[in-house]
Amino acid sequence: MGRSVRIAAGAVIILFGVFLAVGIAPAQKKSYDLFETPQRCAQCHGEIHTEWKSAMMSQAYTHHWDEIEYFRLAVPQAEKDPKVAEVKAGCNGCHTPAAFFIGDTPPPLPSAKSRANDSVFCDICHTITGFQGDTPFNFNYVLSPGKVKYGPREGVVSPFHETKYSDFVKSPEFCGTCHNEKNPYGNWVKSTHLEWKEGPYNKQGVRCQDCHMWRHPGKSADMGHPLADMAHHNFPGGHVPSKYRGVIELKVYADAEEYEPGDKAVFRVHLYNAKTGHKFPTGSVEDRQLWLEVHAVDAKGNRYLLPVDKKGFPGEEYTISSNAPAYQDIGDMMMNVPGFAGLSRDALEEGHRVFRMAYFDPKGRMTIGQWNTASQGTDYRIGPRETKIETYTWNLPDTLPGGPLRIEARLNYRLLVKSVADYLKVPADESQTREINVETAEVAIVD
Ligand code: HEC
Ligand code: HEC
Ligand code: HEC
Ligand code: HEC
Ligand code: HEC
Repeated sequence: MGRSVRIAAGAVIILFGVFLAVGIAPAQKKSYDLFETPQRCAQCHGEIHTEWKSAMMSQAYTHHWDEIEYFRLAVPQAEKDPKVAEVKAGCNGCHTPAAFFIGDTPPPLPSAKSRANDSVFCDICHTITGFQGDTPFNFNYVLSPGKVKYGPREGVVSPFHETKYSDFVKSPEFCGTCHNEKNPYGNWVKSTHLEWKEGPYNKQGVRCQDCHMWRHPGKSADMGHPLADMAHHNFPGGHVPSKYRGVIELKVYADAEEYEPGDKAVFRVHLYNAKTGHKFPTGSVEDRQLWLEVHAVDAKGNRYLLPVDKKGFPGEEYTISSNAPAYQDIGDMMMNVPGFAGLSRDALEEGHRVFRMAYFDPKGRMTIGQWNTASQGTDYRIGPRETKIETYTWNLPDTLPGGPLRIEARLNYRLLVKSVADYLKVPADESQTREINVETAEVAIVD
């Protein structure tokens, strides 16, 4: 997050980051009053407000896991480790931009119900006019709070505010200002927009907004005109089952139709990313787990876990589930827990394929702290419209009963590694297992 952010306030352009770096206080004390509250916008934009209220971006500062990670892990480390000192303010550049803009660092706890709780709200997104530099990342948006609200249509008239047409609000780069992140070690720890940019959807002109702000008939303001293609404001993502279910299609094949006990069988699973515009998982990759469980179920209902065949690429050990200790930095770099031995790396049965890119702390141990990430492992996530193939070689037990044998492939997702969630007492919804898809094939066992 080590870059200066240019903020245009009317005609005055202030290089905020530079002020912080040289220790000069901003000339005038800024307050949250520079921004209108979402409640004010709701007086005329009621429906949009309701949609936004249940979106993760309206909770980016208050959501339980955000509060825990910022106040219990990031701020304590930032206060003692100069290498990551900048994140104490920097996290807020994306999670509660108004607090960052006025320099309220750290903002009051969510329980104080201050205006920092508004997180990413209407008067942030609709007063962003562009970004600084070539690549959108690390909150390098240009924010111009005031009477003018920037929107996607020309010639729109409102009794309350001026409106100005903006190409930028319709562009993926707009989203990229917060959905790409480079950390103090210079690593891209979030790259949703960059993944999109190099993928097939960019080439076909399919934007973030097309998938995350679908079009529907309605009015954008209570006293406004009926529109056939109004932009929805719920921004569903990894927390919303109807968004992530089925995004990867599965197909299971066996190398024969019939086997005898003692035979060697090879099963093959195809995973096709049919729906995400970027890699899956994307964004908070350090927290997320996407894993494929393959089981065989015999005619008597016995279940056998089939470990994935190794492919032999460098760093593969991080893509096969293991319960080796990891995340030691939570104890010795963040929370000061003497003798902290770490937590189970995956908190799963061992042998499943995990589609991930591992993040490592400065001592080479896996971390869930993106700010504390000194290096990254092999990127084994599933790209947009990519197909990955996994194989499972199984020596069928001699005791296998005759009859049908079912091969079951189940792709699961978790927003946060369960061992970490349990240790930090993050509410269970964040670490619950979410089914992405399931598919089966059947073969016959003959004796
Ligand atoms: C000012 C910064 C900012 C901008 C601009 C922004 N986002 Fe976000 N977005 C965030 C933050 C921070 C979160 C994380 C919310 C949380 O803490 O769970 C988020 C979360 C999301 C999520 C939900 C992720 C989940 O875990 O479920 C989606 C989807 C999303 N944004 C899409 C978009 C799209 C599409 C755009 C552009 C139209 C956009 N965002 C613009 C900051 C921003
Ligand atoms: C007193 C009523 C009122 C309030 C309060 C209000 N708006 Fe509007 N707004 C409107 C109307 C009316 C329109 C035009 C709708 C139409 O033409 O169909 C509009 C249009 C817009 C547009 C669309 C511009 C475009 O290019 O399509 C944006 C963006 C917008 N408002 C943002 C906001 C934000 C942000 C707030 C709160 C800071 C807000 N409005 C508060 C009445 C209001
Ligand atoms: C994360 C950024 C973000 C937030 C937060 C946000 N908007 Fe928007 N809004 C957008 C984008 C992007 C579009 C344009 C999408 C497009 O047309 O591609 C838009 C479109 C609109 C429009 C015009 C809709 C249309 O189809 O004509 C209105 C009105 C509006 N927003 C009001 C609001 C209000 C009110 C809030 C708060 C309750 C809000 N927005 C919160 C990003 C945001
Ligand atoms: C082709 C449709 C499509 C496009 C284009 C697209 N997305 Fe997504 N996005 C999805 C789907 C489907 C999911 C749900 C699965 C998942 O979590 O990755 C998703 C998930 C997300 C998430 C949540 C990830 C998580 O694990 O919480 C974020 C954030 C996000 N998208 C942001 C963006 C941004 C920013 C862009 C543009 C740069 C974009 N998306 C473009 C379809 C799309
Ligand atoms: C460049 C913008 C940016 C910065 C800086 C940033 N974040 Fe985020 N953060 C996001 C976005 C965008 C997401 C949503 C990603 C997704 O779901 O795919 C997110 C997601 C998260 C989540 C996961 C929320 C969930 O429920 O899954 C946590 C926790 C979090 N951030 C904490 C932090 C902390 C702590 C810092 C500072 C050390 C920080 N963030 C810095 C943009 C940012």
